Amino acid sequence: MKVFLAVISLMVLMQTDATGKRHKMRTHVRNVQGDDPLLEVEPIPPDTMIGPCSCQCCENAPEPLVAPKCANDIIVAVDSSACFRDHHSKMMRFLRRLVRKIGRTPNIQYGGDETRLGLMQFSSDILFPLHLSSFEDYTNPSTRKGLMNGIDEAISSLGFLGEGSFLNKALNATVSHFQNEPRPQALLDQISPTTPRPVVILMTNGKSHPSVTMDDIELSIAGLQAAGVTVIPISVTRECHGVQNEVWNEGLCPDTIILNKLAKVGRGDSSTFMEMKSHD
Ligand SMILES: *[C@@H]1O[C@H](CO)[C@@H](O)[C@H](O)[C@H]1NC(C)=O
Repeated sequence: MKVFLAVISLMVLMQTDATGKRHKMRTHVRNVQGDDPLLEVEPIPPDTMIGPCSCQCCENAPEPLVAPKCANDIIVAVDSSACFRDHHSKMMRFLRRLVRKIGRTPNIQYGGDETRLGLMQFSSDILFPLHLSSFEDYTNPSTRKGLMNGIDEAISSLGFLGEGSFLNKALNATVSHFQNEPRPQALLDQISPTTPRPVVILMTNGKSHPSVTMDDIELSIAGLQAAGVTVIPISVTRECHGVQNEVWNEGLCPDTIILNKLAKVGRGDSSTFMEMKSHD
């Protein structure tokens, strides 16, 4: 479980362009190991320094760089439709760990100049138990501990919804939320010249109410792409390979086609969806 959550954090951290990617991996790993992260950060050669999470520095930079922060707007979208009735508490445990893990990862932890978090729950309704602009855009409380406690409280308030899932509407709602709750100019100035990157971490099996067609999903995917959103889909259940046992339930099996389409949004053609691990 720990390793898996770390992978998601790293994915959030490393969603830079291809040139920034290699560098981020290196600094991140060193940051974790070294006592003083600043000692370990190397200047970025000029040809690889452009990227949302890399910083720009003068040539021949002699002085140590401040580790670049990654400004992410992350919405964790949780499918709470009827088929997940028996999975709700497991999903909430996973969510809590994921959110804590993000808060502890250097350079993506919560704050007005780093990560803002939104929580969305969906089935036939769409709820935002935590808005991206909560806590005065993550500046108050300004301590990480205070923010973590506030987020924990929001997660505790999530009940089970039931009914059918409308994934197309849910995906569209994330795009609207990013657009309706941008960071205020003062916070944008702090992270300039980078701009916050919108990321959706989606916990679902990719299935929807029968009235939702593949075309509907494709339209929503086009909307996400147009808005520059990165999607990290996490399947709540494991991929099914035929009837497995007497309690096997086709409705729970992930729709791997839809999940893999979503995995490519903002992350390139080789990306695939992940599975929520049920054991630690
Ligand atoms: C979702 O957004 C897309 C792109 O903006 C749009 O074409 C589609 O009609 C929307 N779907 C719903 C159900 O609102």
